[in-house]
Amino acid sequence: MKKTWWKEAVIYQVYTRSFKDTSGDGVGDLNGVAEKLDYLQELGVDMLWLCPMYKSPNVDNGYDVSDYRDIMDEMGTMADFDNMLEGIHSRGMKLILDLVINHTSDQHPWFLESKSSRDNPKRDWYVWRDKPTNWESIFGGPAWTYDPKTDQYYLHLYTKNQVDLNWENPEVRRSIYDMVIWWIEKGVDGFRVDAINHLKKDYTDMPNPEGENYVPAWEKMTNVEGLQEFLTELRDETFARYDVVTVGEANSVKAEHLAEWISEEEGKFNMIFSFEALESWNTDQDADRNVVRVKKIFDQWQKKAHGIAWNSLYLENHDRPRTVSTWGNDKEYWRESATALACMYFFMQGTPFIYQGQEIGMTNAPFEDISMYRDVETLNFCRYQQLQGVPVDEIMEKIKKISRDHARTPMQWNSGRKAGFTEGQPWISLNPNYTWLNVEAQKNDGRSILSFYKKMIALRKSCECLLYGSTELAEVNCPDVYAYTREYGNTKMLIVSHLDSDGCSWSLKGKGQLLLANHEEITEGRLQPYEARVYLLD
Ligand code: GLC
Repeated sequence: MKKTWWKEAVIYQVYTRSFKDTSGDGVGDLNGVAEKLDYLQELGVDMLWLCPMYKSPNVDNGYDVSDYRDIMDEMGTMADFDNMLEGIHSRGMKLILDLVINHTSDQHPWFLESKSSRDNPKRDWYVWRDKPTNWESIFGGPAWTYDPKTDQYYLHLYTKNQVDLNWENPEVRRSIYDMVIWWIEKGVDGFRVDAINHLKKDYTDMPNPEGENYVPAWEKMTNVEGLQEFLTELRDETFARYDVVTVGEANSVKAEHLAEWISEEEGKFNMIFSFEALESWNTDQDADRNVVRVKKIFDQWQKKAHGIAWNSLYLENHDRPRTVSTWGNDKEYWRESATALACMYFFMQGTPFIYQGQEIGMTNAPFEDISMYRDVETLNFCRYQQLQGVPVDEIMEKIKKISRDHARTPMQWNSGRKAGFTEGQPWISLNPNYTWLNVEAQKNDGRSILSFYKKMIALRKSCECLLYGSTELAEVNCPDVYAYTREYGNTKMLIVSHLDSDGCSWSLKGKGQLLLANHEEITEGRLQPYEARVYLLD
């Protein structure tokens, strides 16, 4: 496997809005990111992925861009951006931006022009139809909205304020490429490319057996034939001309398709975020916690990638509840389960991503009332469920499980006023557990989750085997133990994570040196609840 800087990196995702506010308006900003760079450097991360900071009306917290070359008011100015970037680079770190190019805000000047009249030169930059298809949008409700002025419908796969660009139009593609190059020339080191497998659509109706007005249409708008041609052009016109790293957000891509996405030979991105593993161990009411299924999926990705491709490794992001609350046990085994889950994913082959707050074990928000939620997807879901007559209690139960706001509560820096996040009123409530669950409380505690992350990062960097070695699942009796080896030259390592609160009989076959553990006392012949260990095998 070719050695490259981004394969050896650890990337930290900053949900800028909730990271650190310096202006007192309750919204995290770029100066806040700059202020916390020493913290990130001490943690050991090499690269930051910054969630959208472009000019935006913030219907979907920046995933609705109204100017790709400017900064949203709440987050500061372009001078603040330059200053932050300089701070990142001067520490030897790198920055990747979130690139939202499937859609723009309905306030983007392109769309304002496009909707101004049917014969406007930008009319065709978006998708207009006399007769809409029967698709449902990803955030609920119809995927088309009627514009009375020009008497046509426009397409939006997300909210009606996130308008799909018409990628069939070469002028649109050229404008996007120019913008991407503009940021690269400004000095950014790569991109996380948002919702990238929706660029191509098949504009036909979904079969509608139930007679519903709108039906989910993922297959008409996801990984549609012809998508890879768009992605190839995007790569060749932009990323491929520079030494930058790219990660595509690629919903519904399975391990068997990874070659066309990420192989060194034909991949369009360096890595993708596939959802398969996370979705298999879901947060939905009916999906079980199922370590066996998760093992199988991760294993398929590891095997299919080995030797031909690289990929991202992640457990959390801004769209998912906190894993310590869903996959782990945020009560009796909060520290143990956060660290066992960390150990499980961190040492596979790939580039690990850490989502802000994951490194201190932040948990789901205990929001009881709908008025506490801010996320447009959650609020839309609530509205549409109510329209369908679902009882409020049932809706709330579901929201408490799946809401994206769980990951969006402010970063918990200390136990002081507003958790050290802001001097003002946070845009979304703090998780009340900030009084004991915060960076300050964990910083100097060698047993803390934060210290465990630091040790994991240092260990990964100290050894080529954990970077470039092959990965093999290891046989263990207990189904809830995730064990795998990494092997490189003469070095072999074993990673064992017990992902349940039972005990489990297990002993190391042969001899090995224990390099990392999340329990202080190691019991021979047995793994304790949520125990994780890393061995260098003899
Ligand atoms: C991606 C983002 C999500 C956003 C959506 C629409 O899935 O991660 O936060 O809402 O795209 O841009």
